[in-house]
Amino acid sequence: MRMSKDLISLASRRVLITGAASGIGKAIALRFADAGADLILLDSDAAGLAQVSSEVRELTGEILTQVVDVGEKAQVDAFWRRLGSGPGVPDTLINNAGCYPIRDYLEIDEAFLERTLRVNLLSTFWMTQAFIAARGHLGGIIVNVASLEALIPLRDDLIPYSVSKAGALALTRSLAHAYGRRGFRANTLVPGAIHSPNTQRQRDTALRHVDSDHTMSDYHYESRVGLGRWGEADEVARAALFLASDLASYVHGCILPVDGGFLAS
Ligand SMILES: NC(=O)c1ccc[n+]([C@@H]2O[C@H](COP(=O)([O-])OP(=O)(O)OC[C@H]3O[C@@H](n4cnc5c(N)ncnc54)[C@H](O)[C@@H]3O)[C@@H](O)[C@H]2O)c1
Repeated sequence: MRMSKDLISLASRRVLITGAASGIGKAIALRFADAGADLILLDSDAAGLAQVSSEVRELTGEILTQVVDVGEKAQVDAFWRRLGSGPGVPDTLINNAGCYPIRDYLEIDEAFLERTLRVNLLSTFWMTQAFIAARGHLGGIIVNVASLEALIPLRDDLIPYSVSKAGALALTRSLAHAYGRRGFRANTLVPGAIHSPNTQRQRDTALRHVDSDHTMSDYHYESRVGLGRWGEADEVARAALFLASDLASYVHGCILPVDGGFLAS
């Protein structure tokens, strides 16, 4: 029997995390570094990446950072070309980068919708395609970060976001079906309301603009969430660690809520 500490360990693993400069992605980077993984961290925010890199460097062996806008396929392709197909290719991919663009449904134009879909859904589509192609018969592990909004709409001005995250759920399940027998294990995390720089910015803006829709959705969430509180980014990171580790060797195509019991209530 393998020891539990070996099953959870990421020693000798190489993990690529998108959106690693902030919030949940940063927490995943720190948690995975602590578990022994070498890391490749991607983000469009160069300064944030440099900051995370200096924090992670204390914990892990090797770390590579790359400034990439994952919403631009040309940049995703260029990144994978630079990485090549040799030993630098990661064995695990965490598609976490995302944005929450808020706009009334009737005000949404093509550019707004396309950008949301590119950052939140197409990034996952193209990153995973390149990952599977680079790994080939070696297989690998994929963890995608979706959202409660994909399952239950909480806000009326986040419709493109909900659509993008529902697409990420469908993509993960399709890939699980298509690539499980070829050595790839794929799962989706569904975080509830999690403290992060992004959610804090939204709350601050809502307070400044007396945004009753936002305040009501926070109230609705908080009155329904079983544990009675928002989650912390590291609590999502710990669930990601479980899915990426050998503890989850038979967990595949799963949608794992990290929502303090919201969906159960
Ligand atoms: N915080 C929550 O309550 C919550 C809930 C459900 C789902 N999520 C999802 O979790 C993920 C992380 O969210 P967070 O709250 O930590 O947000 P965050 O804004 O703190 O972090 C997101 C990171 O992604 C990066 N990013 C955004 N667009 C990018 C792009 N085009 N290319 C490269 N990097 C890009 C940002 O620079 C940032 O570093 C997102 O996918 C989000 O939709 C968050």
